Amino acid sequence: MKECLRLITERRSITFFDPTKEVPDELIKEILEISATAPSGYNLQPWEVVVVKDKEKKRQLKDICYGQQKVEDASANIVFIANPRAGFEHVDKVLDSWVELGYVPKEAKENLKENIQRGWTDRDKAIRKAIRDTALFCMTVMIVARAYGLETHPMEGFDEERLKEFLGVDKDKVIPVMLAIGYKDPQKELLPRAYRFKFEEFGRFL
Ligand SMILES: Cc1cc2nc3c(=O)[nH]c(=O)nc-3n(C[C@H](O)[C@H](O)[C@H](O)COP(=O)(O)O)c2cc1C
Repeated sequence: MKECLRLITERRSITFFDPTKEVPDELIKEILEISATAPSGYNLQPWEVVVVKDKEKKRQLKDICYGQQKVEDASANIVFIANPRAGFEHVDKVLDSWVELGYVPKEAKENLKENIQRGWTDRDKAIRKAIRDTALFCMTVMIVARAYGLETHPMEGFDEERLKEFLGVDKDKVIPVMLAIGYKDPQKELLPRAYRFKFEEFGRFL
């Protein structure tokens, strides 16, 4: 329990990665698969990722990220892609598993599918749903990475259209965030954590 709180409260956005240290592909896959237990609306998991590890590709990615050096120094960069068509593209796999596991009877599937898809018909709504779930997934990756002794840095500072082109991602998908991941440079110190609003400033009971 305490360990879990430590992973969360001691997480920082790491600006200085050790460029000499690599994270094995298998470990990144493990972190992503564990993190994919994150919740999502109707369990649709409307996310995709591209992991950019190649040195030259990282250099090109840094340019798309307005020169952010951490992109090149981190062992890898995980680009999170939200799919606003997930309500149509993922629904069968999800509902078939629900039928198989006994969540819903087989006869109820088509009706449920129509209901779910109705919620994904409006593009703006679908984008919001896809981004919301993808952000929860991304946050989970940050915590799970720390459990494996790794550090991360979330980023929104990139040219989204160029990034889509660079990765060959469909124009109608959305890239809300990417994450540099790797080991902190032990020679560098971060400034203390900046101010966080107190409950009285952001919350209230009703
Ligand atoms: C969605 C998102 C996008 C961010 N984009 C950037 C970015 O492009 N460049 C950057 O240096 N930091 C970025 N940050 C990091 C924030 O500045 C950082 O989380 C915040 O200052 C709090 O610091 P901490 O994470 O160390 O507690 C981003 C954070 C989030 C959650």
